[in-house]
Amino acid sequence: MGAMGEMKDGASAANAIETVDLEMTYRSGRVDVPAVQGVNLTVRHGEFIAIMGPSGCGKSTLLHLLGGLLQPTAGSILIDGTDISKLSDAERTAVRRRKIGYVFQRFNLFPTLTAKGNIELAKKIHGNGVSNPNGVGSIFEMLGLKGKFNFRPSELSGGEQQRVAIARAVINRPAIILADEPTGSLDSRNSRTVLRMLRDLNKKLGQTIVMITHDSEAASTANRVVEMKDGRILTPTCGYSYEPELERVN
Ligand SMILES: Nc1ncnc2c1ncn2[C@@H]1O[C@H](COP(=O)(O)OP(=O)(O)OP(=O)(O)O)[C@@H](O)[C@H]1O
Ligand SMILES: [Mg+2]
Repeated sequence: MGAMGEMKDGASAANAIETVDLEMTYRSGRVDVPAVQGVNLTVRHGEFIAIMGPSGCGKSTLLHLLGGLLQPTAGSILIDGTDISKLSDAERTAVRRRKIGYVFQRFNLFPTLTAKGNIELAKKIHGNGVSNPNGVGSIFEMLGLKGKFNFRPSELSGGEQQRVAIARAVINRPAIILADEPTGSLDSRNSRTVLRMLRDLNKKLGQTIVMITHDSEAASTANRVVEMKDGRILTPTCGYSYEPELERVN
């Protein structure tokens, strides 16, 4: 770990993600908006969890905190045992680039780049030097995007854009994939394709996945569902009924 932070103890390093009394209060004009309150969430390596809950209950805020995109107002976030809430912006960014892949609801592809260009850019920025047997070509094949290499986002369907976004998130094989309503803008056929892919990445590559969804069918893809309401987690997160079964290919 070295300069990037300290290992809290052996037990916490066993978890991919662990939050301790996590809080995020936005300041909006003179109003404080407590978006995340007292969240203690543990996600094991290789787990696939779904977060559900009503609009505005703090799901995206929590995901942004987990990914180091937001600094919490209180509490801590351990990624692989490293407390990212105590790191500088630059150090936090480094952890994010090394370990985390993001899939946003609204694709966030660069409109002027082709599908291939979008993915290669991610490879350039986030490339962690880990040899990747899944080159851009084989990932495209896996996602059913063969022949779409040189298409720009505006020339792709919503489902295809989302698959490009997923390819971009997974190209560097991040240990953790954070997905904010990855099927939110897709029809049921494309949703199923995207969910199958996420499940495959989880099963075959052992990637840890945290997925926000409003769709209970999508949530049933996950190993565990966490319910949020008013910034808090409702379901107990201790007492696992599930042990991730990893068929690691690396
Ligand atoms: N940048 C911000 N500044 C101020 N308040 C914010 C900001 N972002 C989110 N909020 C508030 O924080 C609360 C939680 O928002 P968040 O986006 O996390 O909800 P969500 O559960 O993802 O909702 P949805 O299902 O609609 O995406 C909401 O009350 C929202 O208005
Ligand atoms: Mg949201």
